[in-house]
Amino acid sequence: MKKRIYITRRLPEEAVAPLRENYEVRMWSEEASSVPRDVLLEEASTAHALWTMLSDSIDRELIEQSPNLKVISNLAVGYNNIDIETAKANGIIVTNTPDVLTETTADLAFGLMMMTARRLGEAERDLRAGEWKSWTPMGYVGMDLYRAKLGIIGMGRIGEAVARRARGFDMDVLYHNRTRRHESESMYGFVYAELDKLLAESDFVVVLAPLTEETRGLIDAKALAKMKSTAVFINVARGEIVDEEALYDALHEKRIWAAGLDVFAKEPVSMDHPLLTLPNVTTLPHIGSASIKTRLAMMELNRQAIVNVLEGEEPKNRLT
Ligand code: DGY
Repeated sequence: MKKRIYITRRLPEEAVAPLRENYEVRMWSEEASSVPRDVLLEEASTAHALWTMLSDSIDRELIEQSPNLKVISNLAVGYNNIDIETAKANGIIVTNTPDVLTETTADLAFGLMMMTARRLGEAERDLRAGEWKSWTPMGYVGMDLYRAKLGIIGMGRIGEAVARRARGFDMDVLYHNRTRRHESESMYGFVYAELDKLLAESDFVVVLAPLTEETRGLIDAKALAKMKSTAVFINVARGEIVDEEALYDALHEKRIWAAGLDVFAKEPVSMDHPLLTLPNVTTLPHIGSASIKTRLAMMELNRQAIVNVLEGEEPKNRLT
C-alpha cells in the first residue's frame, strides 16, 4: 500500500506532481481558504505525511490522533503554528523552509519600510479615487530612509539581509538579538543595542524575530512609549509579537508616526480591525516570501523533506 500524504492547501501541480507516482497524495481543493478543522483532523488521522501552511493549527489534539504520521513539513520558515514539543514526543519529524526565502522577505520588509515612510499606499489609493487635484507643497510628505537610523529586533538571516540593504541607503543599523552577531558587527558595522536603547534611538523599528514565549507581546505599550514620535514601526514577523491595542493607541494619539504591517495576530485580519481605520497604517496580507521563485523553492524543500522522511532518509531543515 502506498503511503499517504495530505497537503492542506491547493498547491501548483508542478510542485505536487513528482509525489504522485510513489505516494497517495490528497490535497485540500482550495487555494484561497484553509482546510476546515474537521477535514484536517480526518485526513491527518490516516496520513503518513502532512504538508502544512502557517495558517494551519497543528496542535496536540491533531498530532495525538494521527498515529501514522512521520513528518510535518511547513511551508514557512516560522513554525509557531505547530506544537513542536508534542510532535517531538510522538517521534514526528517537523521541517520548515529557511534560507530560500531570506532575500525575498528582506525585499518585502524594505519595500514596506519605504511604502510606510513615504505614504505610497495612501498616495496610490487617492490617485485611483480621483483625489489628485493638484500637486501640493506639503501633500503626502513622509519620512526619509536615507541616513536614518534602523533598529532591527531579531537579527537572524532575514534581519541581516534587511540590514545589508540598509547600507545602500547610508542608514546606521542597530540590532537587538538573543545572541551577538560579532562577525556582522565587524564586517558591516552593525551595532548591538539593548532593546530600550534601540527603541529610543531608531527612526525605523523593524521586527523580524520569531514568535516564541519570549517575544509574544514584546512590543507592548511600554515598548511603544519608548519610541520616538517620528518613528516608523514595521512588523513582517508575526502579529502576536505586538500588542495591537497598544499599537492602535500609539498611532492614533500620534505617539509614533506610522506603522507598516505585513502580519496580524489573527489572519486574515478582520475588516473592522481598528488598525485598518488609521491613515498612518500601511498593511499587507502576509506576503513576505511571496515571489514565484521563492515560493516554488520553498515547496521543493517541503516535497524533498517529505520524501526523505518517508524513505527513511535524513531531511534538511529538521526542527525535531
Ligand atoms: C514565513 O515563512 O514564516 C513567512 O511568514 C511566510 O511569508
